[in-house]
Amino acid sequence: MKALEGVRILDFTHVQSGPTCTQLLGFFGADVIKVERPGVGDATRKQLVDVEGADSLYFTMLNHNKRSLTLNTKNETGKEVLERLIGECDVMVENFAPGALDRMGFTWERIQELNPRMVLASIKGFGPGPYAECKVYENVAQCAGGAASTTGFLDGPPVVTGAQIGDSGTGLHLALGIVTALYQREKSGKGQMVSAAMQDGVLNLTRVKLRDQQRLAAGPLTEYSQYGEGIPFGDSTPRAGNDSGGGQPGRILKCKGWEQDNNAYTYFITQAAVWKNICDVIGKPEWKEDEEFATPVARLPKLNQIFGTIEEWTMTKTKFEVMDICNPLNIPVGPILSMKEISEEPSLRDTGTIVEVDHPERGKYLTVGCPIKLSDSPVDVERSPLLGEHTQEVLQDVLGYSSSEIEKIVASGAV
Ligand code: COA
Repeated sequence: MKALEGVRILDFTHVQSGPTCTQLLGFFGADVIKVERPGVGDATRKQLVDVEGADSLYFTMLNHNKRSLTLNTKNETGKEVLERLIGECDVMVENFAPGALDRMGFTWERIQELNPRMVLASIKGFGPGPYAECKVYENVAQCAGGAASTTGFLDGPPVVTGAQIGDSGTGLHLALGIVTALYQREKSGKGQMVSAAMQDGVLNLTRVKLRDQQRLAAGPLTEYSQYGEGIPFGDSTPRAGNDSGGGQPGRILKCKGWEQDNNAYTYFITQAAVWKNICDVIGKPEWKEDEEFATPVARLPKLNQIFGTIEEWTMTKTKFEVMDICNPLNIPVGPILSMKEISEEPSLRDTGTIVEVDHPERGKYLTVGCPIKLSDSPVDVERSPLLGEHTQEVLQDVLGYSSSEIEKIVASGAV
C-alpha cells in the first residue's frame, strides 16, 4: 500500500519544475499519466544528450514512476480523449507558458464542467501582475525571486546557485499544494485551483534575506563578515559569501590538500554553545576566558581573525578528519562533498536517496530517489517511460476504449 494509491494524475508537465512535482507524487504511489505531443514529447528527452538515440538523463531523472501517453490536444479527436481523461483523473498538473491551456480550449471553467472534483495545479514564472505573461526558466526565477542578489561575494556580481530552487523548489511547493487540496476535497467534495509561481517559490526559500533587509533599518548586520571588515552597508541585503546567514557565524575553510583538490574544504560553525570546545580543538584555550573572545558579541568584529585561526587548524586535517574530530565535540561542521563523492557514498545508496536504475535505451544510471521517507509508504523507483510507451494501455484500461475505437483514434493522428 502506498500513500497516494488510487490518486490519478493527468500530467501535462514538461522540462523540470512540473515533472519534479509529479515524480514525487508518483514516488508516493499516484498513477501519473504523462501526456506528451506525438513524435515530439517533453523537450528534455532530447536535451543534454549523452547517449545517442536514448532519452537524456535530464529527462529520465525527472520522470520516474510515470506512464507516457502521446496525445495531440489540438486535434479534435485528441480533445475528446483529453475530455475523457479529465473525467477519470483527480489532479491535472501543468506548467505550460501562461495561457496555453486556455488556448487549447481547457479553461478552469471547462475543466470544472468536465470534473468538479478536479484539482488543477499550475506552475508559472510569476503570479498575477506585470510579469504574469512571461515565460520563465530556472535562473530567471532565481534572479527575480531575490536569491541571486544575495548570493555570491560582496565584491563580485550576483550569482545563481546550482540547487534548482526555481524549478525543483517550485515543484515541491506545488506538490504540497496538491496534497493539501486533495485533503480539503475529502471534506468539501470539490476540486480547486492550486498555483505556484516560481518567483514566489524562490522568495519563500530566500526568506531569511528579506528578514535581513528589514533588520538593516536597525543598523549594520553584525554577523555579516563585512561588519568586522569595516565595510559600510548599503540600503539592501548584501551578498555575504559563505557567511552562515544565521545567528551562529560560519565559513567555508580550507582543509589538507586544498591546493590539489578544489573540494578539500569544510564548513565550520562557531556555535556559541560549544565555543570552549572549539578553543581547545584549535589550540587556543586562552580564548575561553579572554573577554575579547569569550562572548558571541565580542567575537563578531573579529570573525576574520577567528576563522583565520581555525583555518590554520583545518588545513592540517582532511575534511573528513575535521568531521571525525569535531562531531564528538558537538561542533557543527560539514565536508564539501563533490558530486563524485556523493554518487559513491554507500549510506545514500542504503537509504534509497541515490538509486541505480536500468533503462532499455541507455543502460544503468544513477538518480536521486525520494528524499522524503514515509514509514508506511515504501518507494520503488521505476524507470522513466519511453515516449508513448503506455498510450494503448491508458486508452484501453483507463478510458475503456475498444480495439476498433483505438484504431480510429490512431488513424486520426491524435496519438
Ligand atoms: N498537444 C498539442 N499541443 C501541445 C501539447 C500537446 N500534447 N503540449 C504542448 N502543446 C503546445 C502548447 O499548447 C503550446 O501551444 P501555444 O503556444 O499555441 O499555446 C506549445 O505547445 C508550447 O508550449 P509552452 O509551454 O509554451 O512551451 P515553450 O517551449 O514555448 O515554453 C517554458 C517553455 C518552460 C518557458 C514555458 O512552458 C513556461 O514558461 N512555463 C511556466 C514556467 C515554468 O514551468 N518554467 C520552468 C520550466 S523548467
